[in-house]
Amino acid sequence: MEPLLKVQGLSVNFSGLKALSDVTFDSFAGEVRAVIGPNGAGKTTLFNAISGYVPSTAGQIFFKGEPLHGLAPHDISVKGVRRTFQTGGLFPEMSALENVLAGLHVQIESGFFGIVLGLAEAREAEREGILRAKRLLDLMDLGAAAEQPVKDLSGGQQRMVEIVRTLATEPPLLLLDEPVVGLSPPMRDRMMDIIRRLAGEEGIGIMLIEHVIDLVMSGSDTIVVLSSGELIAEGTPEEVRQNREVLEAYLGHA
Ligand SMILES: Nc1ncnc2c1ncn2[C@@H]1O[C@H](COP(=O)(O)OP(=O)(O)OP(=O)(O)O)[C@@H](O)[C@H]1O
Ligand SMILES: [Mg+2]
Repeated sequence: MEPLLKVQGLSVNFSGLKALSDVTFDSFAGEVRAVIGPNGAGKTTLFNAISGYVPSTAGQIFFKGEPLHGLAPHDISVKGVRRTFQTGGLFPEMSALENVLAGLHVQIESGFFGIVLGLAEAREAEREGILRAKRLLDLMDLGAAAEQPVKDLSGGQQRMVEIVRTLATEPPLLLLDEPVVGLSPPMRDRMMDIIRRLAGEEGIGIMLIEHVIDLVMSGSDTIVVLSSGELIAEGTPEEVRQNREVLEAYLGHA
């Protein structure tokens, strides 16, 4: 199978600091790939480089065979690589539903619905968007909160709205930076369940940064382990669990 994303020899330097050094891996459609490593390992920098928010110092990034390196964040997003941020960017005065729809409208505009399709079709796409948004909010127990301004929701609920907004666009590749941080354990499980279903049923490629090792082991197909900017291990949860270097560098024992 052709990889969805190819990262080859990627390095990112910040005025002398090697945040990423020669990182190489492939990511596939339908796969949940976790990125783990200690604080400052370069996990967020990896997402920033893939999505165009920081320039790479060396190396190449290909999405469906096309180069991404050098493109602006908006152009990378339009190509279908969507991401969430470690801290959110919701519209506080807008309702949860409106926030999710705002995410979809970006897609509707860039997806040329409004221009190429007639108004009736654009409205139909919008209706479908509303249904999809409501269904996802319901799944996350946010149905009752859908009409409330986001600023009145709890931190955990806001986090879920932000992630639902990104999930609702169903892009080919999703980069989720710590998607379940701040959620209660039941909500965490439900979020991981939705993530797994988007990969399994919709064939979306998902990369997620996660610190809770149990969730990573049970919820991902493959794991990339970063330490001080270097990829020190890659493989299935079972392979990574048995990797000596990982045990020493990351889990602190061998
Ligand atoms: N824009 C930037 N400018 C300068 N240094 C940066 C920048 N972004 C990250 N760094 C540095 O690069 C290193 C990797 O940071 P990064 O945020 O990628 O780590 P991380 O693995 O996501 O950590 P955490 O688990 O704490 O989120 C750190 O030393 C950080 O201080
Ligand atoms: Mg980070």
